[in-house]
Amino acid sequence: MKRTRVCELFGIDYPIVQAPMGWIACAELVAAVSNAGGLGTLGPAAGARNQDEDRDIDAVEKCLREQIREVKALTGKPFAVNFPIGWGKQKIVNERRVAAALDEGIPIANVSMGSPEVLTKRFHDVGVKVIHIVTSAKHARKAEAAGVDAIVCIGHEAGGHIGPDEIPTFVLVPQVVDAVKVPVIAAGGIADARGLVATLALGAEGVYMGTRFMATYECSAHPNMKQAVIEADDTSAVAFGRRTGISRCLKNAYTDRHTELEAKGATFEEIRDYERSGDDLEGWRRVPAALINGNIEYGSAACGSIAGNINEILTAEEVIRRMVDGYQSVIKRLED
Ligand SMILES: Cc1cc2nc3c(=O)[nH]c(=O)nc-3n(C[C@H](O)[C@H](O)[C@H](O)COP(=O)(O)O)c2cc1C
Repeated sequence: MKRTRVCELFGIDYPIVQAPMGWIACAELVAAVSNAGGLGTLGPAAGARNQDEDRDIDAVEKCLREQIREVKALTGKPFAVNFPIGWGKQKIVNERRVAAALDEGIPIANVSMGSPEVLTKRFHDVGVKVIHIVTSAKHARKAEAAGVDAIVCIGHEAGGHIGPDEIPTFVLVPQVVDAVKVPVIAAGGIADARGLVATLALGAEGVYMGTRFMATYECSAHPNMKQAVIEADDTSAVAFGRRTGISRCLKNAYTDRHTELEAKGATFEEIRDYERSGDDLEGWRRVPAALINGNIEYGSAACGSIAGNINEILTAEEVIRRMVDGYQSVIKRLED
């Protein structure tokens, strides 16, 4: 299949990147993707043994170091680590993660949820390549100006945190491609060879997939979460939380209540209190409740709209092989 600048830049066989997913994109998945010729990415809280470990800064550092070492033990291929910059306590935690990752030695940093000016130079000074995550052409220009090596643009269809501008992948990708010269990687709603060919046609030089890789054997998501992904249809995932930070998750009692509170005009604090309450979760926090404890009804079950197209749990290698093989058939079909 076509080798793009993304392949050259990161030293990978195929321009297929596994997106970071908090708690569940751990060493086993990352190494499997990289060994299959794509680029695996460790997510935040990867390897955490309980839901409080991502709040204990020493445990966060220990966990990340162990995960990086495990990836290196499982693959000699390139891989990335996600650094969500965030704010407040998250920023301090992220700072400790960056220092630990640089000490361990990583080839590629994936930076999300913050300005590209914060970390790019620091990574470049020690030879680490930088992928920056954006959700609009304006932010892509800013990332390029800060010197990042590649840009991931995430469309509104994506699972997890999505941009406040709510721009769908099909219209976002060509506008970002036209706005910058660095390679652009498309994200949001891609799960097979058709999505790969379509986004390459729009000018992207790679794809970035979270939801598809959630339904793999190597992903650490709870079996209930994987089952919910393969049972989902095209309407199962909803965007919600426009007041407190928009995300796309499986529609459930939690997203219904959240949406209802917003519609009733609840204040930011009231909605935040509901998000943080554990009454319906036996003390679990929303995100780990769904992703690692399997509470699909009341947890925050991040998932993209493309789940409706994902019907089987596969190995990560099989996901990549099907995309690579399927690429040829899709191109042939277009030419026939
Ligand atoms: C379960 C789940 C957890 C996620 N957690 C993170 C995260 O911790 N950091 C991040 O930058 N993006 C996170 N994302 C977003 C993905 O990195 C990526 O943008 C998204 O999955 C791409 O769209 P897709 O789901 O349609 O493939 C998450 C997505 C999912 C589905």
